[in-house]
Amino acid sequence: AKAMSEEDKLYRFNGVLYPILMCPEEHLKCLVDIKAREDDIMLVAYPKCGFNWMVGVMKKIIAEATQMKNESKMPPLMEFFGPEVMKVLTSSPSPRFLGTHLHPDNMPPSFIQKKPKTVVVFRNPKDTLVSFYHFCNNNPVLPSTSWESFFSKFMKGDVAWGSYFDHASAWNKKMDDPNVMVVTYEELKQDLSKGIRQISSFLGFSLTDAQVQQIAEASTFKAMKESSANSHGNMGNVFFRKGVQASNHFKNIEFIQ
Ligand code: A3P
Repeated sequence: AKAMSEEDKLYRFNGVLYPILMCPEEHLKCLVDIKAREDDIMLVAYPKCGFNWMVGVMKKIIAEATQMKNESKMPPLMEFFGPEVMKVLTSSPSPRFLGTHLHPDNMPPSFIQKKPKTVVVFRNPKDTLVSFYHFCNNNPVLPSTSWESFFSKFMKGDVAWGSYFDHASAWNKKMDDPNVMVVTYEELKQDLSKGIRQISSFLGFSLTDAQVQQIAEASTFKAMKESSANSHGNMGNVFFRKGVQASNHFKNIEFIQ
């Protein structure tokens, strides 16, 4: 990644910017062939809205509820799948756990038909922007950038995975679909156990209070940061940066009803 110029790190696929090293065209072209199952469990979040947090939480919920050891070697994001992972995906037992940063219009068509249960995580735009800015400057696959430049690109949607605002308003329109549940970073931060209970019951699982508490304790920012070398290697400190709700602007945003 070092030899690559900053501008070359992102490229457009179907009009949306992606990091070329993680999501080369060969990988993104596979997406359309993913065959969703009704019992897949989906996680959707725009970058930096708490995706990795919920990956940890939801994998633990699924493992507790199904007694399945989730030893899946699939990357948490579908956009990272390539031809090899597609084979693993086909042979994986249900329920499969799949994540994405995609806008609903860019989801593989079979997800629209099969309507698997989908948890969508929102985070207020100000904290998402700040988090994304730091991420770009600490992740070699994304272009380093000044605050001014990143700010204007974020507002225009000229960043990896496109516009935060289009993503949020498009997913928000799906809020009342029976297979969609919207949670916010802010609510989860305020009461993680409550969030775990709500997500579990949405997925049709009933966990004991002890199980909920155990998952919540293992999923605090501190706990996840401490174990991040295992989960994210040398990118641990980059993914688990600060983990706070810095701004209170969320409640004023129109798309949250
Ligand atoms: P900050 O950069 O504001 O710290 P994503 O996983 O979608 O890339 O989101 C990353 C953001 O989620 C980072 O925000 C990260 O610190 C925060 N995060 C990760 N785990 C968390 C946790 N257990 N509790 C609260 N925030 C968490």
